[in-house]
Amino acid sequence: MKKITVIGTGYVGLVSGTSFADIGNEVICCDIDSNKIEKLKQGFIPIYEPGLEEVVKKNTQLGRLSFTTDIPGAIRSSDIIYIAVGTPMSVTGAADLRFVTEAAKTIGQHLNDYKVVVNKSTVPVGTGKLVQRMIQSHLSNPHVTFDVVSNPEFLREGSALKDCMNMERAVIGATSEKAASIIAELHKPFNTEIVITTLESAEMIKYASNAFLATKISFINAVANICERVGADVTEVSRGMGLDSRIGSRFLNAGIGYGGSCFPKDTHALVHIAESAGYDFHLMKSVIRTNDQQRLVVVDKVKEVLGSLRGRTIAVLGLAFKPNTDDMRDAPSLQIIPALLREGAKIKAYDPIAAKEAVVHFGDQIEYVEEPYDTILNADAALILTEWEQVVSMDPKQMRKLMNMPVVIDGRNIFSPKTMQENGFIYHSIGRPPIHPEA
Ligand code: UDX
Repeated sequence: MKKITVIGTGYVGLVSGTSFADIGNEVICCDIDSNKIEKLKQGFIPIYEPGLEEVVKKNTQLGRLSFTTDIPGAIRSSDIIYIAVGTPMSVTGAADLRFVTEAAKTIGQHLNDYKVVVNKSTVPVGTGKLVQRMIQSHLSNPHVTFDVVSNPEFLREGSALKDCMNMERAVIGATSEKAASIIAELHKPFNTEIVITTLESAEMIKYASNAFLATKISFINAVANICERVGADVTEVSRGMGLDSRIGSRFLNAGIGYGGSCFPKDTHALVHIAESAGYDFHLMKSVIRTNDQQRLVVVDKVKEVLGSLRGRTIAVLGLAFKPNTDDMRDAPSLQIIPALLREGAKIKAYDPIAAKEAVVHFGDQIEYVEEPYDTILNADAALILTEWEQVVSMDPKQMRKLMNMPVVIDGRNIFSPKTMQENGFIYHSIGRPPIHPEA
């Protein structure tokens, strides 16, 4: 059993702290946001993440998980300190390290014994060494020793806890063998592959992994655009490609591009890291450009079918960047809806969880509807932006009866073109031949 402090109770901090507690460690999660900590103490989880509330509750009751704003006290009483604070994108595209350096300073000031300081935030290569220097220069007791480790997180929103408890690998970039073995030991109950590297390599693994997945998505979206022009079907192409184990079938779903808190931020940050190191990362710039353009493909498609959108009612099904999350960060809907509004369309939108978040962005410019069938009632077109189960399970026959015009633009390829044709729809999806009732 280890005593662990996790600084930062965002997605990564809260989920990894909870996982460490669940495998039997004593974990203190801290944050400077007293409001958040107070709510967590009362069992209120600030993020929507399936299953998290129950596991937090269980471990809090067992006395293995606690919450505090007393960061110095938590630092003094722990063997291992995880830094899991935010690294937002700055105006230049680089990661803003303000919160990381602030945490390092506090750790230095309150270090009372040998401890391992672990960076879980996604930080540019070299930040581990920076954290080491920051702690060293703020030590109130110059005789105390410490090591810095980079242990990046690969969890996905919506399945974060499951991803954490069943991690496919633990990457441990360490400055000493002692620190590497302490963190490797901590990960033993996860029964996972341990990859021990230098600090710099571990930091690079995180960016390279996210950037590679983003590349896979932009690649298949570009292929989808070509498929549309040559009469091929991208779902068949993905399946045929993905069966080659060197390629793999995952992350080959064409759609309206990637969003969320990681891929957009990390791809920009990697371009910036490369630039600072004197390398022009053309490939990554193209991945980003392809993703930006892909978001608006559905707007072109709806205009192609309806002509002018002025005065037209468009039902938008799904607002979050992906299902099972209320996260609107960098969601494709943030570009698509304003583009539709600029064309003069009237928007009725549905999202089972993210609608509250969406109000912050769209205010009363759009109408929020609580039920998917009510959303498409009398609409001139339906636009599918997120593959929520509630949307995927909609019955085309029923939809056809409710809509003013039988037009569906499917940004996530959730419906079968054949079924849509049988039900008399004009149906456009991504990278598949369009369907017209008379065809
Ligand atoms: C991602 C990484 O998967 C995770 O390892 C990392 O730690 C954080 O970033 P997340 O952003 O939660 O996780 O979502 P993910 O499920 O990976 O999806 C990212 C985006 O890619 C979504 O917008 C999704 O719709 C899109 N996507 C994914 C596709 O468009 N096609 C695919 O085939 C897969």
